[in-house]
Amino acid sequence: MPANTLSNEQTVAGVFDAEAIREEFPILERRVHGRPLVYLDNAATTQKPLPVLRAEDSYYRTLNSNVHRGVHRLSEEATEAYEASRESVRRYLNAASTQEIVFVRGTTEAINLVAATFGRTHLAPGDVVLISGLEHHSNIVPWQMVCAERGATLSVIPIDDRGQLRMDEFGRLLTDRVKIVAVNHVSNALGTVNPVREIVAKAHARSIPVLLDGAQALPHGPVDVRELECDFYAFSGHKVFGPTGIGVLYGRSALLGSLPPYQGGGDMIRSVTFEKTVYNDLPYRFEAGTPNIAGSIGLGAALDYLWKLDWPGIRAHERDLLSYATEQISTVPGIRLIGTAEEKVGVLSFVLQDVHPHDIGTILDQEGIAIRTGHHCAQPVMIRFGIPATARASFAFYNTKAEVDALVEGVRRVREVMGV
Ligand code: ALA
Repeated sequence: MPANTLSNEQTVAGVFDAEAIREEFPILERRVHGRPLVYLDNAATTQKPLPVLRAEDSYYRTLNSNVHRGVHRLSEEATEAYEASRESVRRYLNAASTQEIVFVRGTTEAINLVAATFGRTHLAPGDVVLISGLEHHSNIVPWQMVCAERGATLSVIPIDDRGQLRMDEFGRLLTDRVKIVAVNHVSNALGTVNPVREIVAKAHARSIPVLLDGAQALPHGPVDVRELECDFYAFSGHKVFGPTGIGVLYGRSALLGSLPPYQGGGDMIRSVTFEKTVYNDLPYRFEAGTPNIAGSIGLGAALDYLWKLDWPGIRAHERDLLSYATEQISTVPGIRLIGTAEEKVGVLSFVLQDVHPHDIGTILDQEGIAIRTGHHCAQPVMIRFGIPATARASFAFYNTKAEVDALVEGVRRVREVMGV
């Protein structure tokens, strides 16, 4: 991840101790098929540290009650904990205000929220939504749906042979018909880090808002949404070492406040009569119904935990791990790496001759090694490279070089088993 898209006050990398931090992630002690677990599926979901496990447990043991509703003590304490988590998110993103932080189910719901509210109010026939060829289905399908409804079209920034956005094409596609640009900060399938600051600057020069899907960026460190100047930023709790079923939509308050509600129900209203409903203020206007209280508290605990880590040290460790893994896997005959961008996070997507990636995943599983195989919910990326699927190893800061060695050894074993 280039330093210029992350917020970090420290500039000197310390020596990050991945072995020591593993002790805070109990699941990493597990054995699978009699072998020590080598968990390399972090782009699908990350493991949870003790503070997250404790926060959720403690909420249910000591605070459980509904938020924003009761005058009783438990409800007040639960509301305080829920709102404290919103502040933890605000700090991790350096948003201007907690009003800009909407709790949702995950990145998918965040993008659906923007497509449904912004899309329905700003798109007219002939307008364009500009996405990229690197997107996850969650940043394609919601836009296709609203484009179909509004008579707008979807336009796609193509990618080059290394899996990088064609910025020359971006310049050409960024016409005045474009009403929103929606791209990922980091690609889930290939690990490419996109030049989001340049994208935002160019779009804003034409007064076009930008949504960034940050699901794969935030596990690699805090970002500064004010420095990026993006209008929306979406992410999922479970990919930042927090719980599943909780995520966040950041929206710049002026823009978020101008949008109609997404879902109707309790908590998003100020008053209701059969004749007229007055909606609540930001961010509650977008949080209809009882929220995922435990999940939000777990997410807050995850971000508080991450906030205290040595990010310059972690980035150095992750860079080192990626270059070691790239070098080592390339020594295996028949390996083709898919996605070799100049700027990448720790993702190794690969194919091995004509061995189906599912066979690679199944054989590695027998060795205790967890990777993801398939199209990674990014079928257009697979089509671009002329393949149906890849095997993908994705790293987090708790991974080690010994685990990379296990992966590479495992892939050599796949060659033996499959006779290639
Ligand atoms: N989006 C997640 C992944 O890339 C599930 O695996």
